[in-house]
Amino acid sequence: MKHEHRSPITPDFETWPVKHTPTDVVVENGALSITWSDGQTSLYHPFLLAENDPAPETLHPMSREATLTPLDLPEDLQVANAAIAPNGAIEVHWSPARSNSVFHPGWLRGIAWFGDQPAQSTAVLWAGVEQPEPPTFDGPIALEDPQTFLKWLVALRDYGVARLESLPNQDGLLMQIVERVGPIRESNFGRMYTLEIKDDPDSNAFTSGALMQHIDMPTRECPHGLQFLFCRGNSTSGGEGIYVDAYRVAEDLRREEPEHFQALCEINWTYNNRSKSSSYNAQGPVIEQDQHGTVTGIRYNTWLRAPLVASLTDQDRAYRSYRAFTARAQASEYQMEFAYRAGDLLTFDNRRALHGRNGYDAKGGTRFIEGIYSDRDDLHSAIRTLERSLAKDTAQ
Ligand SMILES: [Fe+2]
Repeated sequence: MKHEHRSPITPDFETWPVKHTPTDVVVENGALSITWSDGQTSLYHPFLLAENDPAPETLHPMSREATLTPLDLPEDLQVANAAIAPNGAIEVHWSPARSNSVFHPGWLRGIAWFGDQPAQSTAVLWAGVEQPEPPTFDGPIALEDPQTFLKWLVALRDYGVARLESLPNQDGLLMQIVERVGPIRESNFGRMYTLEIKDDPDSNAFTSGALMQHIDMPTRECPHGLQFLFCRGNSTSGGEGIYVDAYRVAEDLRREEPEHFQALCEINWTYNNRSKSSSYNAQGPVIEQDQHGTVTGIRYNTWLRAPLVASLTDQDRAYRSYRAFTARAQASEYQMEFAYRAGDLLTFDNRRALHGRNGYDAKGGTRFIEGIYSDRDDLHSAIRTLERSLAKDTAQ
């Protein structure tokens, strides 16, 4: 009867390692209280437990999505009593009486609330003087070896910029790689675009001129989260990529120029694209924060800003703070500058890492760079599923 010792399933497909075991369970005003082996205690509302009950009557065993509606639970539902099973699972008995429920201890610990705390960030903030090159991985090895592929994705998540190198000059390769991470997010530049010089450019990107630091698509309600630039060939001189960790800029401003930091978080700029065939515009502050004050995104692009319709006082505050941000974004100590070499795939968080380039001499050779966008969610999902599958491989 080996299966009796198996932990119950959870309402998802994540792995929930049991790092802390429950040592005591009691009922407090109808809620479940668990004390853990590290001495911490957590409380669980009866509705939360009931709607996440992994029993097949309440959770579809294949989709692992709940089949209950809130009205299927009695309004006076309470935990009547609870116990720790020999395998560490938590058994819950209900009032009014309904089938007992059994919960996975790792899952209960994973969803426990221990006070209102900021989510733990894995972000590594950098300035160019400390981090002159992006974290870099061998492209062909990364495409063969899932561990290296995962390291590349994790570096992209944590540094906001990462590079694969030595990739072959192959049609369709960029799309294949991006689709291994997640779905492509199209834009008014198409499913994939080529950075080339156009006679009638609909963006400064399609010239040989220098580009100051910016994010792409500030004109969207939610700007694209990731950008992939694949250099398939480059024999021109100049055109080096310049990247800046805008989260680092924001944190330095918060500490050293707090009045500008505040204005950058509070004042909404409008950004609009300049195109004969599309007309996008969206608003947002240069620095986005969550409720804990953690910086979560940047909307910065000088040439796509629309006129600021605001009082003279607010305009003054907005322009001075934008200038303070720019002074850091353009300062060499913040900038990571490097050449695009044939076979390089630069990937970056478009809502964190500002990108730009030096001008290049188009007559001196050819330059062939393809670009694709996707979103942060796709990166995070790819990391979690890969971690899950690699953990499973290790366990087997
Ligand atoms: Fe760009």
